[in-house]
Amino acid sequence: MIPEQVFNQLDRLPAHPTYLYDLDGLEKHVQKVKTALGKVEVLYAAKANPDPRILQAVFPHVDGFEVASGGELSHVHQHFPQASLAFGGPAKLTSDLKLALEKGIQRIHVESPAELQKLALLARELQCTAHVLLRANLNLKIEGVPLAMGGRPSPFGMDETLLESCLPILKQHPELHCHGIHAHLASGLKDAETHLHLLSGVMDWFRGFISQHRLDWQELNLGGGMGVDYQTRKPYDWHTLGEGLHQVKDLKLRIEPGRSLVASCGYYATPILDIKSSHGETFVIVQGGTHHFRTPAAQNHSHPFQIKPMHAPEVQNCTVNVVGQLCTPKDRLSTAVQVQGAAVGDWVVFPLAGGYAWNISHTAFLMHPEPNFVYLQNL
Ligand SMILES: Cc1ncc(COP(=O)(O)O)c(C=O)c1O
Repeated sequence: MIPEQVFNQLDRLPAHPTYLYDLDGLEKHVQKVKTALGKVEVLYAAKANPDPRILQAVFPHVDGFEVASGGELSHVHQHFPQASLAFGGPAKLTSDLKLALEKGIQRIHVESPAELQKLALLARELQCTAHVLLRANLNLKIEGVPLAMGGRPSPFGMDETLLESCLPILKQHPELHCHGIHAHLASGLKDAETHLHLLSGVMDWFRGFISQHRLDWQELNLGGGMGVDYQTRKPYDWHTLGEGLHQVKDLKLRIEPGRSLVASCGYYATPILDIKSSHGETFVIVQGGTHHFRTPAAQNHSHPFQIKPMHAPEVQNCTVNVVGQLCTPKDRLSTAVQVQGAAVGDWVVFPLAGGYAWNISHTAFLMHPEPNFVYLQNL
């Protein structure tokens, strides 16, 4: 399950929680995704993991980055001033919109008529053009996904009536150049066929909307949301998505995946500090926990792991819960998992920790030290 080159590294590491990122594997994976998608533009959603080394590995193989705050915008722009950027996110600060205009960001994804008005005034003040997509929350049926942002009441994007109320604002303001629509409706879509079906609905709606309002828009950003199956580890079928999107000849398509690009390159490895039984269950207590690796808590799942034995086993062939060092029962990483053996000092290694892992963790709680980071490249 865990590649040998990752496991072998652990022999050389100090006994401290460590993120290992397989940058060679990441590059290969992103290249494969880009090949499967052909002409469809791919922006990496930096929110999944904005580590500069990750951005660096991804950068040569994508068409740009999606950023979702002024902080991400500054960070990504500072490291890659030449990169094409799209700036999204609800409730942007005026200062962030201004920064986006000053930096000449390629696309701003507008989330409300009020934001569009604000942007028009700023663009006039700065005497520049704001290149925008309007973010839509479409009335499409979205079922069976862990995180739906559209197709229901949500703070993200605009219903069709709000989109329509943007049209006169666009007409009034020559400093606004709208190129089309952005629609990130859900995250965690594991089945590419189902995903494609949803995206076909978005494309049909888009064609209807531009025809009804006689708009010359061509760009459609279909968002991210390609799922990662943490339990079966079956990869997302990029080939099927690419084949489906290649049929589309009349639109300029773009996607902005995060999790599905980077999750598989990351591993969170941490030593066992204690093993004890409590009311009939065995607890393996590791150094670190959800303050380093919040993915299991955020996904509400039992995260798969593998143990690298460093000592003779203290427990054998038993079912364990893996928990962290925090004084809360929520600091649980895995539940009721059968293990061959475990001992204090062994490493517990969690795969699929490359995205929405370290950077979504509540690091300040209890003031434990931060993890170490190891980048595997040119091995
Ligand atoms: C607007 C937008 N685009 C892209 C993404 C990336 O989604 P994912 O990491 O699921 O691919 C998100 C995630 O929340 C998002 O909100």
